[in-house]
Amino acid sequence: MISSGIVTVSYIAATVLFILALGGLSNQETARRGNWYGISGMAIALLATVLGVVTQNYVILMVALLIGGSIGIVLARRVQMTQMPELVAILHSLVGLAAVAVGYVSFMDHAAEFTGVEKTIHDIETYLGILIGAVTFSGSVIAFGKLSGRISGSPLTLPGRHWFNLLLLLGAIWFGREFVIQSAAGAGITPLMIMTGIALLFGIHMVMAIGGADMPVVVSMLNSYSGWAASATGFMLGNDLLIVTGALVGSSGAILSYIMCRAMNRKFIAVIAGGFGTGGGGSPAAGGDEEQGEVVPIDPQETAELLSNAKEVMIIPGYGMAVAQAQHTVFEITKTLREKGVNVRFGIHPVAGRMPGHMNVLLAEAKVPYDIVFEMEEINEDFPNVDVSVVIGANDIVNPSALTDPNSPIAGMPVLECWKGKVSIVLKRSMATGYAGVQNPLFFEENTRMLFGDAKQTLDEVLKAL
Ligand code: TAP
Repeated sequence: MISSGIVTVSYIAATVLFILALGGLSNQETARRGNWYGISGMAIALLATVLGVVTQNYVILMVALLIGGSIGIVLARRVQMTQMPELVAILHSLVGLAAVAVGYVSFMDHAAEFTGVEKTIHDIETYLGILIGAVTFSGSVIAFGKLSGRISGSPLTLPGRHWFNLLLLLGAIWFGREFVIQSAAGAGITPLMIMTGIALLFGIHMVMAIGGADMPVVVSMLNSYSGWAASATGFMLGNDLLIVTGALVGSSGAILSYIMCRAMNRKFIAVIAGGFGTGGGGSPAAGGDEEQGEVVPIDPQETAELLSNAKEVMIIPGYGMAVAQAQHTVFEITKTLREKGVNVRFGIHPVAGRMPGHMNVLLAEAKVPYDIVFEMEEINEDFPNVDVSVVIGANDIVNPSALTDPNSPIAGMPVLECWKGKVSIVLKRSMATGYAGVQNPLFFEENTRMLFGDAKQTLDEVLKAL
């Protein structure tokens, strides 16, 4: 057992480490260190709680920690990079479930400990904790189902769905009032259970209405909810660390959702209101398939020649590079070209792929040096000096119509302006559209060459030719 003073100091140390972890994770060069800060913070928090806060039932606690820890290790070792969003979704559901369980226990076991205003405050904390927890739980389970393909990714659009949501919200508020009144008289479990049902239904309906391709925004929003649920649980339990950690998760998740929406030029409310995006993956949304002229194909041999003769090469990876798992070949090509004296750089769009940092993670996995990987705003001005841009399985993020066509679904989204360079080589399998379902005028530009085929296979041939 350790004293409460040591617990407080440990909690402050853990909080500082969590803040450093978030800071570290915002940059790929410091991300590993950030991860270690987070791991250390969590280890300190767990140790301080087990040794300083828990006073009984050690055997049950140890067995639970052992089971939970083992499941965590197995899951983390098995998960593929592309399954990361669904793993995160199912983990959020557990945070939500824990908030609901703690809320009920706190109400049933400790309600009698409070009186007067304190009791009302505790009741409201409990109600909010269970409400947010239940929405997070059911919403995350549906998000997991959609991301893993167990539930259809297409948005469910019930007639009058916004009114239905409003009705559920008003119901939750009304039963909240009932709960506080009844709890003061020593009852209250019935409105609490009805609200839990409403919240579960709301979570299911909210995420069912969202299209597969908007799911990453939803996962980060549920991440935010899980933080607020943990924070509410911290208030219920009087645990400062849980309050602060929950608030950190809640606010960073909210900021991430906002950044993703801005980078996709989507309004957050429009994402939550749902109805946009198809079944996810790379399948095109309705329409936009019409061709706009002739395209000029190129073969791997010619591509290798263009690359060898270039001084400045910009590689623009997109979702198709992830599908083809071409990142290792991309690294080999980069290495070969750099040895020949070609300056190779990477231009990364903030929403390339299907999750935040998707491309950065793939390139880091393939050991591409960080100092040649640039964010869009760092290199967009440089395209007039680029000899060859290689667009690998990217489409929407290099679509000039985002800047020229106000009616385009991606109008206003900043894009990588590779058409301003000397030549763009686009690697894709067909003329199919990308996630937004719009045809891309870049493919029909005079200085664009199309290298058709699976990106991994064609790049292997380019590498051989180099
Ligand atoms: P997309 O616009 O989806 O285009 C990907 C392209 O890759 C497709 O046109 C596809 O054409 C090609 N492709 C697929 N498999 C391939 C393979 N094996 N080999 C070669 N090419 C292949 O991707 P993007 O340019 O990366 O843009 C991302 C889009 O997703 C944006 O619209 C963004 O708003 C959206 N989005 C992003 C996120 C985050 S957080 N990153 C979240 C939600 C939505 P073919 O079928 O012809 O091969």
